Amino acid sequence: MRRGCVWEMLACVTTALLVLNCCMVAADVATCSGIVPMVYRYDKISITDFGGVGDGRTLNTKAFEEAIYRIKHLRRRGGTILYVPSGVYLTESFNLTSRMTLYLAKGAVIKATQKTGNWPLIAPLPSYGRGRERPGGRYISFIHGEGLHDVIITGEKGTIDGQGGVWWNMWRRRTLRYTRPNLVEFKDSKGIIISNVIFKNSPFWNIHPVYCSHVVIRHVTILAPPSSPNTDGIDPDSSSHVCIEDSYISTGDDLVAIKSGWDEYGIKYGRPSTDITIRRVVGSSPFAGIAVGSETSGGIYNVLAEHITLKNMGVGIHLKTNIGRGGIIKNITISDVYMVNVRKGIKIAADVGDHPDKNYNPNALPVLNHVRIKNVRGKKVEQAGLIQGLKNSPFTDICLSNINLHGYPRRNNVPWKCSYVSGGAIQVRPSPCSDLIHRSSCPIQGR
Ligand SMILES: *[C@@H]1O[C@H](CO)[C@@H](O)[C@H](O)[C@H]1NC(C)=O
Ligand SMILES: *[C@@H]1O[C@H](CO)[C@@H](O)[C@H](O)[C@H]1NC(C)=O
Repeated sequence: MRRGCVWEMLACVTTALLVLNCCMVAADVATCSGIVPMVYRYDKISITDFGGVGDGRTLNTKAFEEAIYRIKHLRRRGGTILYVPSGVYLTESFNLTSRMTLYLAKGAVIKATQKTGNWPLIAPLPSYGRGRERPGGRYISFIHGEGLHDVIITGEKGTIDGQGGVWWNMWRRRTLRYTRPNLVEFKDSKGIIISNVIFKNSPFWNIHPVYCSHVVIRHVTILAPPSSPNTDGIDPDSSSHVCIEDSYISTGDDLVAIKSGWDEYGIKYGRPSTDITIRRVVGSSPFAGIAVGSETSGGIYNVLAEHITLKNMGVGIHLKTNIGRGGIIKNITISDVYMVNVRKGIKIAADVGDHPDKNYNPNALPVLNHVRIKNVRGKKVEQAGLIQGLKNSPFTDICLSNINLHGYPRRNNVPWKCSYVSGGAIQVRPSPCSDLIHRSSCPIQGR
């Protein structure tokens, strides 16, 4: 026991109540620990053993490929650490392998080439049917993992830099042939830890676990300019047991967006995102802070987001879906959110996002049920809330409690707006729509 804690205990002896109180608080700090078992690796190689040069100019693709080939084929017990020392290592995209740790030392930068001409293509995700922004295949992510287990990306706050500017410009000029690469993607993988790394200027989404389970992302920093297109921070997609915590994310699109496939392709693939935890995340973006969707076709269940701090945002909390999506969004809890300078505090809507093609089924309506949003504070929030369900698929059991979203002083702030929603509201300021007030289906809650 720490010495400070002994003192605390002594101080607590005076009242039994206080003892109880202090011990409960100490035990209460929830973390992602235990979701992926920690492994200790004894075998270690350095990228410099494979000809890696960190001068910012030499292309290191071969060095990464050979080092990872060595890890894959030597199959050392406990796996192998690939150490990247201080320096700037320019490279093309590369694939990871199972039972490895990519370790970025202090001052290490793994930097994506800006020569996009030879960037490899891979097949579209079956749950999307095509690339997310262009038909057909998609560019492989800068750092890619497929069918892997037991992979760690960590270190001493080194940087993975996507140099996305060239890609953003192709998007702006409409010269993209295929969907832009993610910075890091794991597909069909499990037992992934990403921690203590800075992600910078991703061409597209930053971290994309898709068809994965048991993924921990903690103590990461994700940075891209507010004007950069589609630079989502973390997108758990048709994945389960994903835990994200203690991170700072400031990008040009949603900070964390939970997804599960796109319209008829996602419905057919049928893989939900479940058991997703997000806590102690701080960030800024012109789009959403905590988002579900808009691709929700495989369903999204059992989400907990708590202790979120948002500044200079488009939408604080955004649950979004569309007709044609199908899919059930259920059991979503978002609590203890602080936001300042935000266009919309809470938005839940079923008219968001585009369709992969004309073959989507207009009768495949999304279902949204059992959402809890509580303990939300905000300042300079232009519109506190907007909840718009579908006439033929109203949102049900939406419970808002202890919400206080102040507008701009001396300004006409936009009132709540709702349609096709049922649920309840307790202690919500400004006062929400009557749809919620009159039907008090909220359970009596703890603090
Ligand atoms: C990387 O992985 C992808 C997907 O499994 C594969 O298509 C590609 O050939 C791999 N690239 C290399 C260089 O091995
Ligand atoms: C709802 O989700 C929470 C996680 O936020 C989970 O602990 C709980 O078991 C889920 N409830 C049901 C009925 O599945």
